[in-house]
Amino acid sequence: MQGDLAEAARILGQAQRIAVLTGAGVSAESGVPTFRGEQGLWKSYRPEQLANPMAFSGNPELVWEWYRWRQGIVGGCQPNPAHHALAELEGRGVSVTLITQNVDGLHRRAGSENVLELHGNIWRTRCTREGKIDHYAGELKCSCGAWLRPHIVWFGEQLDPLILDQALSAARRSQVFLSVGTSSLVAPANMLPRLAADSGATVIEVNVEPTPLTVDADFFLQGPAGEVLPRLLAKDPPP
Ligand code: OAD
Repeated sequence: MQGDLAEAARILGQAQRIAVLTGAGVSAESGVPTFRGEQGLWKSYRPEQLANPMAFSGNPELVWEWYRWRQGIVGGCQPNPAHHALAELEGRGVSVTLITQNVDGLHRRAGSENVLELHGNIWRTRCTREGKIDHYAGELKCSCGAWLRPHIVWFGEQLDPLILDQALSAARRSQVFLSVGTSSLVAPANMLPRLAADSGATVIEVNVEPTPLTVDADFFLQGPAGEVLPRLLAKDPPP
């Protein structure tokens, strides 16, 4: 039953309230490297070694170098058919909440509007002294003299409680919860599909390989998001 795309598409097509959680895998076909696995390494650092407040206070230049490398990649990437299929879903008159762990901004660039960026955005900065949030403009120091940091939720940091609250209630309200391209390893995002299932939602997972969520998902559709989502979300899905 886990791989029945037509049945998953039918259930999705009847849902009035849909929550979607995306991770780095949804942007992989755009050319943005995922975090885990070989391609997530940068100069032999794992993301956890750089995306944390201790790393930044110890060596802000190094952490910024990594983020500027990622900005350079993201800046040259375009949304792919997975992003477009999700944006199109939002235009169908049903309630769609797109919860993303991605900081690349590609969902909005594809036209999605109801987006909750759980982990922040790589194109924003925050002053480490004043907390002021701004668009990244190439500067690494604030006019007050303190370091600017990427406006990203790092390991060991709390998510914005308002955004998390909205994500939790979208998961609870959803009739279908779609988890796409995430390793389901990072909390609290990985708790959302289980919360949705406990509230009665059908959970559909799309990934190139099984994850810790797979055994609990109602459907596991194995394949690249850019191929599976356009078929799953087609107006007239294949029989
Ligand atoms: P990961 O890099 O942990 O996982 C990417 C997932 O995408 C894996 O399960 C892959 O199998 C899957 N995948 C790869 N290519 C795919 C494709 N074309 N189609 C579908 N699936 C594909 O990324 P996340 O789960 O997003 O946090 O990681 C969660 C968080 O940990 C990130 O937001 C980031 C990271 O460290 C911060 O930066 C704060």
